Amino acid sequence: MQTRKLGRQGLQASAIGYGAMGFHLGYGAADQDEGLKTIARAFELGVTLFDTAEMYGWGENERFLGRAVRGFRNEIAIATKFGITRDYGTDSRPPHIREVAENSLRFLGTDRIDVLYQHRPDPAVPIEDVAGAVKELITEGKVRYFGLSEAGPETIRRAHAVQPVSVLQTEYSVFERDVEQLFPLLRELGIGFVPYSPLGRGFLTGLAKPASEYEQGDMRNGMDPRWQPGNYEKNAEAVEQLRQLATEKEATPAQLALAWLLAQGDDIVPIPGTRNPARVEENVRAADLSLSDADLERVKAVLPKGSFGGRYQGGAPQWI
Ligand SMILES: NC(=O)c1ccc[n+]([C@@H]2O[C@H](COP(=O)([O-])OP(=O)(O)OC[C@H]3O[C@@H](n4cnc5c(N)ncnc54)[C@H](OP(=O)(O)O)[C@@H]3O)[C@@H](O)[C@H]2O)c1
Repeated sequence: MQTRKLGRQGLQASAIGYGAMGFHLGYGAADQDEGLKTIARAFELGVTLFDTAEMYGWGENERFLGRAVRGFRNEIAIATKFGITRDYGTDSRPPHIREVAENSLRFLGTDRIDVLYQHRPDPAVPIEDVAGAVKELITEGKVRYFGLSEAGPETIRRAHAVQPVSVLQTEYSVFERDVEQLFPLLRELGIGFVPYSPLGRGFLTGLAKPASEYEQGDMRNGMDPRWQPGNYEKNAEAVEQLRQLATEKEATPAQLALAWLLAQGDDIVPIPGTRNPARVEENVRAADLSLSDADLERVKAVLPKGSFGGRYQGGAPQWI
């Protein structure tokens, strides 16, 4: 698979990365053996960026990912995140960052974290202190690159002045386009971009079901406005239109959604999440799908302002 540069500090990754969150958060029960096969298959197919976080099972997802990549750990980059608390608040105090990073190293079974993200900006801690804490970890060799997630322009600039930021991670897909307003800044500073939930939490694959049909504990059952009656039907209709275009291109809706993201810049590496080896193959093959300018415009025209319904109940994260 094609390799892309993320930031100016040396981080490189396969054009399509992989998100492991779904094994421990968001999408209901998961089969761990199938998961190990999925992650092994992703690596066989050339995926070299694997994403997790402290809060995905409070160590469980990191342990699982560490086990899954043990045989090829030195050939990939592992990204993890600190800074969300168990009650969904934030904590980026420097001693806490260090504690979480040390735990992540232990859980992952590795001596370095390739990308350490602040999961959400913390209004109680100046970003300079956060960047300074990550800088120390980089100096000690425990972390290689610094990332931010859901950060706004001011935070990005101030962080970057203390410790260069290699990558911003924020939700981005055909459904969610707000972050495009930050692309000029990212390009000015040379910061790479990792779209999370690039498949619109699965909606853009064409396999979405009404909210009530997901099991308890699945965030699409009740928590995600895009699945709520009224929005769901309109989004499903839009995805049907995208399916038609995908079929014309001899591709699947998931591949169209990912190829559309890849076409937005060669500094973009989406991290679709799946617990299924066949789906990982499908997703990775999106890197081979080229879209013309006319195709890209057709995708945009289906949902000119993104999906119906916001991306989080109670509103999108505040970019501070
Ligand atoms: N920074 C943040 O705040 C943040 C927030 C959310 C997510 N993330 C990261 O981004 C990664 C991806 O986001 P996400 O998992 O929320 O959303 P996503 O990648 O947009 O969608 C995942 C959903 O799509 C399904 N899926 C994936 N490929 C498919 C295919 N080819 N056909 C049919 N269904 C498919 C998955 O189901 P199966 O697993 O059953 O295949 C899962 O339910 C996460 O794993 C996590 O690492 C970061």
